[in-house]
Amino acid sequence: MTDRTSLTVVLAAGEGTRMRSSLPKVLHPVAGQPLLAHVLEAAPHGAGTSLAVVIGPDHTAVAAEARRLRPDAATFVQRERLGTAHALLAAREAIARGADDLLVAFGDTPLISAETFARMRAPLAKGAALTVLGFRAADPTGYGRLLMEGGKLVAIREQADASPEERKVTLCNAGVMAFDGRKALEVLDRIGNANSKGEYYLVDAVTIVRNMGLEAVVIETSEDEVRGINTKAQLAEAESVMQARLRKAAMDAGVTLIAPETIFLAADTKFGRDVTIEPFVFIGPGVSIADGAVIHSFSHIVQASIGKNASVGPYARLRPGTSLGDGSRIGNFVETKAATLEAGVKVNHLSYIGDAHVGANSNIGAGTITCNYDGFSKHKTTIGAGAFVGTNSSLVAPVKIGAGAYIGSGSVITKDVPDDAMAVERSPQTNRENGAVRYRELKTGKRVPKEG
Ligand code: UD1
Ligand code: MG
Repeated sequence: MTDRTSLTVVLAAGEGTRMRSSLPKVLHPVAGQPLLAHVLEAAPHGAGTSLAVVIGPDHTAVAAEARRLRPDAATFVQRERLGTAHALLAAREAIARGADDLLVAFGDTPLISAETFARMRAPLAKGAALTVLGFRAADPTGYGRLLMEGGKLVAIREQADASPEERKVTLCNAGVMAFDGRKALEVLDRIGNANSKGEYYLVDAVTIVRNMGLEAVVIETSEDEVRGINTKAQLAEAESVMQARLRKAAMDAGVTLIAPETIFLAADTKFGRDVTIEPFVFIGPGVSIADGAVIHSFSHIVQASIGKNASVGPYARLRPGTSLGDGSRIGNFVETKAATLEAGVKVNHLSYIGDAHVGANSNIGAGTITCNYDGFSKHKTTIGAGAFVGTNSSLVAPVKIGAGAYIGSGSVITKDVPDDAMAVERSPQTNRENGAVRYRELKTGKRVPKEG
């Protein structure tokens, strides 16, 4: 905890051409959230903190996402891509306001944690002018190298400018930096572009700080935390690191994951106590699972809330807007969407329940379909408490089934059914005596069909 004020500037003006996608790079998802969201989540929050995001020209979607996640975020456009220091100075107006600490993060480095930001701020409180986040790279190629002398950081050398000796250094620049906010602009304004790429390199801040007689320090972290994403393969690697973290956090919080490596979670998944998740379950964004619920194998769940002691799957698909009451049961090959199922509702097999409200303890038989779409609009199905819908029924919305009503199997229900009524909609059955015998004889040629 610190009472120093902070400004975090996230550099997100990258073009992301190597992603080969029309989506801006920082909007690609990891664990169900855009890369940018992870960075904004980790950046300092709350009183005394402010946030700025530097985006590329025409990246209105990035600006909108930044504001959706952090309504306090200011956005700045970097019109030309002239390097990381140039990008940071696009937020000059925010920097000039003079927070105690200026943190710089990259929008394509989603695994960074809040603890690391806090660790980087600590030396500033003790008088350092700059903290650089370093890591030991398995393969340092392409990263800026941290050059140390007598245990002190003296410079960062970019790959293109490094000597063969310097290239052997494996301690690398993660990209995240923390500046004493009152000295930052003076440092940044001194950064030039006399390097092999002609870019304004943020890393030159180290030498400048030293030349000003101030101190630059290194904080180390693991390579996993600072993986930058430029390609779809790196996106997948980050997903894998993030999933490992989320699974561990879930298990640390008491969730039983029977085969954690087969279960996919979202960064915002919420769990109660004693939740069990069987192998091969996918959980997308916006899901909460209350105490004692069990998610059986091969279920796919997005934007849904699951009540206490509910049972879902195997092979269930809960789509956005699903709310399952306590003790409800969703069985195999059941799909729900924009549906509220109150406590104790059972939909055990092969059903589609969409745009619906189902009262407590109703039983929805196998193969029941809410026919919610007429090709033009969506319509609602309302089922009262304690109703029984026989198997293979089609409920043609808009339609209301009363509390305690009973629907005979195979009915196509197009009219409202009053409370406690029994609705049956199917043609009467006929039984022809020996009809099967006659049919077999016909098919085996033992009988000649009648003319006409
Ligand atoms: C940068 C660092 C390098 C470090 C590496 C870690 C510099 C000069 N180099 O190199 O020392 O080891 O990150 O991943 O800082 N950006 C802009 N505008 C620009 C240029 C970059 O917004 O004009 C943003 C990019 O979108 C990206 C970040 O800054 O989010 C880093 O830029 P990038 O080109 O990826 O730098 P690297 O070559 O990876
Ligand atoms: Mg990079």
